[in-house]
Amino acid sequence: MKKRKSPTITKCERKTLYLTAEEEKILNQESGEAAATAMRLLVTMGEIFDAARLIPIKSAQISGISYKTIGDAGLEFIQEFSRLEAKTSIYASMNPTGMDLDNWKEIGIPEDFALKQKKIISALNDIGVESTCTCTPYLLERIPKYGDHLAWAESSAVIYANSVLGAMTNREGGPIALASAIIGKTPLYGFHIKENRKPTISIDVQDELKNELDFSLLGFYIGKKASGEIPLINLTNGIINNIFLKTLGAAMATSGGQAIYHIRNITPESKDFKQEKLEKITIKNYDLNKTKESLSQEIDPDIIFIGCPHCSIEEIKEISEISRGIQFVKKLYVCTSRHVWKIAKLKGYIDEIEKAGGRVVKDTCMVVTPLERMGISKVMTNSSKAANYLPTLCKSRVCLRDLKGCMNYAIDGN
Ligand code: F3S
Repeated sequence: MKKRKSPTITKCERKTLYLTAEEEKILNQESGEAAATAMRLLVTMGEIFDAARLIPIKSAQISGISYKTIGDAGLEFIQEFSRLEAKTSIYASMNPTGMDLDNWKEIGIPEDFALKQKKIISALNDIGVESTCTCTPYLLERIPKYGDHLAWAESSAVIYANSVLGAMTNREGGPIALASAIIGKTPLYGFHIKENRKPTISIDVQDELKNELDFSLLGFYIGKKASGEIPLINLTNGIINNIFLKTLGAAMATSGGQAIYHIRNITPESKDFKQEKLEKITIKNYDLNKTKESLSQEIDPDIIFIGCPHCSIEEIKEISEISRGIQFVKKLYVCTSRHVWKIAKLKGYIDEIEKAGGRVVKDTCMVVTPLERMGISKVMTNSSKAANYLPTLCKSRVCLRDLKGCMNYAIDGN
């Protein structure tokens, strides 16, 4: 490696970041303008965070896909990369879009929105990003392995990858994740360094958690209480599964911005660090009930939304079993990736849910669709992440219940 010679390429005065000869050439436009722009983004990021060098990554996951959240400015940014003939050099997936790409008309997406949304997807496809359209890329076929370096952007996916899989990723912004997808590298800083992943606070959960909503509320409470810390959680629970871990992390990343947590004797890195005396927080059911009260209102919802983060095949199976032989009196929207949707279709789960009057929507979720333009203003959900965002992003009022409570409401309106 040699020291970077062209400091004028960015405005940052840096001392730490070293580039290889090949990286230097990319920066100097020898691989084209798009690659140089992507490299410049990574160099700037690396210099801001005092990274020593760039490291190869196994995959990138790009956020900022919904036209609702990025608007025309985001569309133009992506189209500019596409115009410059940018190409991904590694596997890259994308976050949910603002609509079901096949059935957008049926769910009431306005035509002007759909047009812009399709342009975003098309530009990303041209660059080489796969239309996975999910916030759960860890439920696709390419599951990251322990120790893999990634450049993922979706906060709930980042925390799952770091905490549950033991892969290593910072919480990237959409443009940086896209730059990483093009270059195939990321700056070495933050959660790519083992030392930065060690717990900084101990959390004792005193009462047993019963379902996914309890884990979601726990995540939300920890995020609020210990923002910026890396929790080591001690659970009294007998039952714990990946659905619980998925919702726990999504909520924590929402309220506290955490990108990693550890659960003693459960998550892969929980034993990797020397036991230090940590500040301790104790959490009881009372705290979770208070958290629920702060996020939930008594409403008669227009829709019931399950799938934040996107449902796994196990969740869709459970919903289909509850749906068997009944007829919903309330609109039920179940959100998932098109990968899981296809499996669920083959297994007959989708048909079972749709026979009962529910809808399984792929590629999107009710937070990033233009819900406020679809005549929906009251939502019931089992996710505290969704409950946190729906009021601001969709101007919706929200009621929180666990999955069984949501399904009961869909069945009898109570
Ligand atoms: Fe995924 Fe939408 Fe929730 S992107 S994590 S389902 S807000």
